[in-house]
Amino acid sequence: MKLLELAHNWLKPVITRSDIVVDATMGNGYDTLFLAKLSDNVYAFDIQEKAITATKQRLKEAGLEANVTLIKECHSNVAMHILASNKSAGCDKAPTRASIKAAIFNLGYLPGSDKTIITKPTTTVQALEQICDMIDTGLGGRISIMVYPSHKGGECERDSVLGFVNTLCPTNWNKQIHNSPTTTQNAPILVLLEKQ
Ligand SMILES: C[S@@+](CC[C@H](N)C(=O)[O-])C[C@H]1O[C@@H](n2cnc3c(N)ncnc32)[C@H](O)[C@@H]1O
Repeated sequence: MKLLELAHNWLKPVITRSDIVVDATMGNGYDTLFLAKLSDNVYAFDIQEKAITATKQRLKEAGLEANVTLIKECHSNVAMHILASNKSAGCDKAPTRASIKAAIFNLGYLPGSDKTIITKPTTTVQALEQICDMIDTGLGGRISIMVYPSHKGGECERDSVLGFVNTLCPTNWNKQIHNSPTTTQNAPILVLLEKQ
C-alpha cells in the first residue's frame, strides 16, 4: 500500500461529520478534498495563492466548498485560527480550547511548482505542537505526517519531526513510523500518531 493511502486509511475511521479536522499543507487539495468528504469542519492551510486556487477549484467541482475554511497562512498559526472561528460560531462547549479530531501534514514543496517554497522545520514543529495540544484525548484523535527528506532541507525537517515525535510521552501517544517500500536513500517516511 502507498504511504499516502496508508495515511488516509489511518485518519478516516476516527472522523465524523461534526469533527474539526486540519489539512496543514493544502497544496493541490487532494488531502483537503479527502477530509471534506468526511467532515463539515475542515481547516486547510497553505502559504501559496496557487494552492488556495487549486484547492478551491477541486472542492467546487466536488460541491464541497462549504465544508472547508481555506487559510492562506503559515500552519504555525493553526491554534489561533481554530479558536477564533470557534468563538465566532458561538461555540460554548469550550470557548478557549477547541478539540481537533484529525490532522494531516504532507510536507515539502507543491508538486509542479517552485521547489524552493518548502515547509520548514521550525514552523512545522510549531504547528505539530499546537495540533498535538488540541487533538482529542480519549476519542483517539489522530495525526498523519508525510515527510520527504530527499529535497534540499528535507533531511533537516525529517530530523526535527522525528525529534519532536520522540518528545511525545509514549503513555499518551501511540506512534508508528512507516518507511517507503522503495529502498532509495532519503525515501519518504510516514509518521502516524494517536492520542490515547
Ligand atoms: C507536498 S505539498 C502538499 C500536498 C497536498 N496535501 C495535496 O494534497 O496536494 C506541500 C505544501 O505545503 C505548503 N507549505 C509550505 N510551507 C508552509 C507553511 N509554513 N504553512 C502551510 N503550508 C505550507 C507548500 O506551499 C505546498 O503547497
